[in-house]
Amino acid sequence: MGATKYVLGSAILGLFWSSLLKGVLTNSTSRCDYPPCSCDHYGRLTCDCKEEGEELILTTEGDRRLSPHTSRIVVNNCSSVILMNSSLASMTGLRSVDLVNVANLSLARQSFELSSHSARTRISVRNSSIDVMPSFVFRGDVEAITFENVRIGQLSAFSFANLVHTDTLRLENCRIETTEAQAFKKFDVGYLHVIGGTFGDQVPSRTMNDIEVYHKFMLDGVRMGVVRSDAFIVRSPRTVAIQNCAIDTLESEAFDVTAHGAVIVKNNTFGSIGVGAFLGIRADREIRPPPSSSSSSSSSSSTAAIGLHDLIFKNNSVSNFEEGSLMFDRTSFRPELDNLLVAQACDCQMLPVWKNNVLNYTNVYSRLYARQNSLVPPTLQPQEPINETPETFLCLDARVEGVPTSFTDYEARHCSLGGSMLVFILITVAVLVALIVGVCLIVWCCRKRRRNNRKKWISVPTNAPDVVSKKNGVIGREAATSGTPVDSRITMVVPDGRLYRETEFHVIVEKAEPLTTEL
Ligand SMILES: *[C@@H]1O[C@H](CO)[C@@H](O)[C@H](O)[C@H]1NC(C)=O
Ligand SMILES: *[C@@H]1O[C@H](CO)[C@@H](O)[C@H](O)[C@H]1NC(C)=O
Ligand SMILES: *[C@@H]1O[C@H](CO)[C@@H](O)[C@H](O)[C@H]1NC(C)=O
Ligand SMILES: *[C@@H]1O[C@H](CO)[C@@H](O)[C@H](O)[C@H]1NC(C)=O
Ligand SMILES: *[C@@H]1O[C@H](CO)[C@@H](O)[C@H](O)[C@H]1NC(C)=O
Ligand SMILES: *[C@@H]1O[C@H](CO)[C@@H](O)[C@H](O)[C@H]1NC(C)=O
Ligand SMILES: *[C@@H]1O[C@H](CO)[C@@H](O)[C@H](O)[C@H]1NC(C)=O
Ligand SMILES: *[C@@H]1O[C@H](CO)[C@@H](O)[C@H](O)[C@H]1NC(C)=O
Repeated sequence: MGATKYVLGSAILGLFWSSLLKGVLTNSTSRCDYPPCSCDHYGRLTCDCKEEGEELILTTEGDRRLSPHTSRIVVNNCSSVILMNSSLASMTGLRSVDLVNVANLSLARQSFELSSHSARTRISVRNSSIDVMPSFVFRGDVEAITFENVRIGQLSAFSFANLVHTDTLRLENCRIETTEAQAFKKFDVGYLHVIGGTFGDQVPSRTMNDIEVYHKFMLDGVRMGVVRSDAFIVRSPRTVAIQNCAIDTLESEAFDVTAHGAVIVKNNTFGSIGVGAFLGIRADREIRPPPSSSSSSSSSSSTAAIGLHDLIFKNNSVSNFEEGSLMFDRTSFRPELDNLLVAQACDCQMLPVWKNNVLNYTNVYSRLYARQNSLVPPTLQPQEPINETPETFLCLDARVEGVPTSFTDYEARHCSLGGSMLVFILITVAVLVALIVGVCLIVWCCRKRRRNNRKKWISVPTNAPDVVSKKNGVIGREAATSGTPVDSRITMVVPDGRLYRETEFHVIVEKAEPLTTEL
């Protein structure tokens, strides 16, 4: 009796279930049944758009609805995809969403809302374009979000918000045209990496507001225009890395970061830096290990430094800055400054000013703390000076086509008064003067000698002529015409004979030889 009852019962139950299942199967069609999408037995939905201009709508309504049993969504090569409001919210088994090569991805509020029962889901968007990233796109337990090579026309306020238990948020090579304040608002994440790409011309105040990062906060190779004060408010990362970035303007206290570990700022290019742009980077006072009393052997200066984290500021380039632009919280960090390139032409007068602006900012520091009188001004305990090596400061040597040169090198070669350059100039001048004097002397000597020589050139005849005309030794016309030969040794140089026609020449001939003529 009991057995037949059981069989009958189970048969009725089976009939009921099979009819129910049949009804569900025949009646409900889903996204899986229409191209360009297809599904497999594991609940994977794959959509590969082949036709140009096809618009793919992912929604939970209509006859092309998404099945709640979807475990994975892959969309490829579609020119336009619309992911409707809360379409994913009923998929309890959803593990991943991949949207690749979508020319126009339209998202709505809560497009990426996940079921509160879902396992952890990974969302990735690659090589796509999104006109507007709306507010509150995400909701729920997203394990990882990756945006790679995505153009985002506008990143609205609260675009990244409502995230729970997120391990990684990674934006790689994303070109964000406009960023609104609070685009990243109040969530916890293990790793927050922005790599390459840009945040646009303006990174407003509170772009990242109240973000708790457990492991690493990194901005790597990001281009940014003006970064406003308090643009990045990030709590408790163990590592902060700001590297390879190009930032036009960094306003005062642009970074408000409470770090639990080392801070690395390296290989960045800054246009101009406001006063105390990095002063908002500090260490969490509660977490910071207190100076351990066990290290009794160490000196007083090193015990003061024990609770400090490293802040490495290395290989950065700055065009414009002022006193206190590069201040660091010395009560939290032990700053290490190296290879700071002042991207201006080296100038002997400016070198000490620049150096002083970076190293000696005590005045600005106390003024800044006096203004924020809510804060107790930190006792400026005798600070260890920042280690300075010859390579700490560099500027552009305009003489060698703007090659970076260290301050010390440049100073030694071009600036100091006792420098070799001046000596070289002095020697050159002295040699030139000596040369000129020498040349003058030589010319003068030659002149003198020539004058002396000229007197000898016209020689007085050494021998008196044998035959001079009579008449008291006066050479007369008769003498020339008489035919008596005049001694050819008496030579006269007359440039133009006619001018001298009426000139009288008195030639006195002295003779000191025995007379041959009869008296
Ligand atoms: C389910 O399909 C049956 C026929 O197969 C039809 O009579 C019924 O109206 C459908 N129900 C719904 C809800 O579409
Ligand atoms: C998407 O298109 C690219 C070229 O446009 C092609 O190389 C790739 O194989 C396509 N992907 C799929 C899944 O069809
Ligand atoms: C999104 O869904 C909620 C309810 O689920 C609805 O109130 C709201 O109007 C929807 N928004 C859009 C843009 O469809
Ligand atoms: C990226 O997407 C564009 C269109 O959106 C496509 O032309 C290009 O081939 C894609 N590149 C890769 C590497 O998939
Ligand atoms: C993207 O798609 C949306 C909705 O279909 C449309 O309103 C918008 O104009 C499209 N954008 C571009 C750039 O095609
Ligand atoms: C420094 O940053 C520039 C871009 O600003 C990049 O091209 C270069 O490779 C970086 N150098 C190192 C050593 O990372
Ligand atoms: C320093 O930066 C310059 C360019 O900005 C780069 O070429 C060089 O490799 C960097 N050096 C180090 C040690 O990062
Ligand atoms: C720092 O600057 C002040 C003036 O602003 C000056 O009096 C002081 O000597 C400087 N200290 C050093 C170490 O250069």
